Amino acid sequence: MRKSKSNPILTGVIGTPIGHSLSPTIHNYWIEKYGENGIYIPLEVSRTHFRDVIKTLPKMGFGGVNITIPHKEAALLCADLVADNAALLGAANTLSLRKNGKIYANNTDGYGFLQNLKETEPTWRAVTGPALVLGAGGGSRAIIYTLLREGVPKVYLTNRTIERAKLLQNDLGNRVKVIEYADLGTALNEVSIIVNTTSLGMIGQPEMKFPYDSLNHRTIVYDIVYNPLKTDFLKQAEIRGCRTVEGLGMLLHQAANSYQFWFGKLPEVTPELKNLVTEKLKA
Ligand code: ATR
Repeated sequence: MRKSKSNPILTGVIGTPIGHSLSPTIHNYWIEKYGENGIYIPLEVSRTHFRDVIKTLPKMGFGGVNITIPHKEAALLCADLVADNAALLGAANTLSLRKNGKIYANNTDGYGFLQNLKETEPTWRAVTGPALVLGAGGGSRAIIYTLLREGVPKVYLTNRTIERAKLLQNDLGNRVKVIEYADLGTALNEVSIIVNTTSLGMIGQPEMKFPYDSLNHRTIVYDIVYNPLKTDFLKQAEIRGCRTVEGLGMLLHQAANSYQFWFGKLPEVTPELKNLVTEKLKA
């Protein structure tokens, strides 16, 4: 039996629904591995109660929380200090709760995206060529911001709802070029990386329709969907000779960055952790 801890640093994830979150598995693995006096718990909280809950957490001994759907925007409004990236993205997925009650908001999605890319494709260089991003939700915003900051010369962006893509372009600047889905073929000759940020291809969602035969084999294809681990989008890209990046690593690395805020050390994304989470996904 696990020994009970005295005055542990409480951490957790707040959202609704929260039952299927993989974050408790990931963070409790690291807490155990590094022998921290901590614990990470899922907290189901409605929109109505979100603000009150956040304000109460520091008094209860919480050191930090992750924030997930539907509270990422509301989390910013509760914070006393907002990191630049979270402010620019208009959303926070990590709150650090100081003993004096002050709340510090951050967004670790971009870090997770980039670390996963660097780990899987160490030779990738932003300046090599433009990127193509599919989808214009919160994930897309964090990824485009990161790609531009890294020095990608241009980001082609397409989305089912083109207006949403244009909003994103307005916020992130003129290196973002919105294109219609029908015009993808032309961009494919040019791009050095493609990132799917839509939910297409996820278990229970429709498959992506994509002009695979126009794919250049030198293009890296990255899917942020991690269930299944290897989406049909990635399989099709591999058939055309492309190198691919799976989404699970992004989830793990964004979690590692959150853990670092709370416990002061960057934890390792180990094969053992990947296996643990993969088993959880299958269950
Ligand atoms: P997140 O914040 O996690 O990125 P989101 O804001 O719900 O999630 O965005 C999901 C993305 O998947 C959006 O780009 C969405 O397109 P719309 O903006 O048109 O809604 C895209 N998406 C979801 N289902 C889709 C479908 N069936 N076909 C095409 N795109 C889809």
